[in-house]
Amino acid sequence: MINPENPKRLSHSIKRIQKFSHFSISLILLVGFMWATASIIFIPSARGDSIEEGASLFSINCAMCHHTESTERKVGPGLQRLFTRDKLPVSGLPVTEDNIRKQIKTPVGTMPSFAKLSEIKISHLIEFLKTL
Ligand code: HEC
Repeated sequence: MINPENPKRLSHSIKRIQKFSHFSISLILLVGFMWATASIIFIPSARGDSIEEGASLFSINCAMCHHTESTERKVGPGLQRLFTRDKLPVSGLPVTEDNIRKQIKTPVGTMPSFAKLSEIKISHLIEFLKTL
């Protein structure tokens, strides 16, 4: 297609390549823009689903022993505003996702283990605990 011996055709080819590259750049920008919009719309709702799922996991597995609207002890300590505290109530460890994940799988004290819950379910539970 590109024939260096024919300057007119060469410049024509270059123009076509330039047009094509403009087209690809616009396409990349468009796809990027659509992706950004989609993530703004869908990521918060994915988080909302996770919180809802976490709330129902909490009511099945944890609510019999933990209040969510008070810090008073039921069987275990009340978990209201857990993520705004400096330390976990019993172990005194920092309030981090990791430490809560550990508490759920290999708990301190007399709390039963919930190691049977999948990692994703534990993540949903943690998303819910963050809202308390
Ligand atoms: C049978 C009762 C019981 C159930 C069910 C239970 N817990 Fe506990 N939990 C406790 C007790 C008791 C403690 C405190 C340990 C102690 O005092 O021996 C505790 C402590 C905790 C702590 C604080 C840990 C720390 O390091 O201070 C968190 C967070 C927690 N539980 C979350 C949960 C979550 C999330 C669930 C559900 C998956 C759950 N618990 C289910 C009884 C329970």
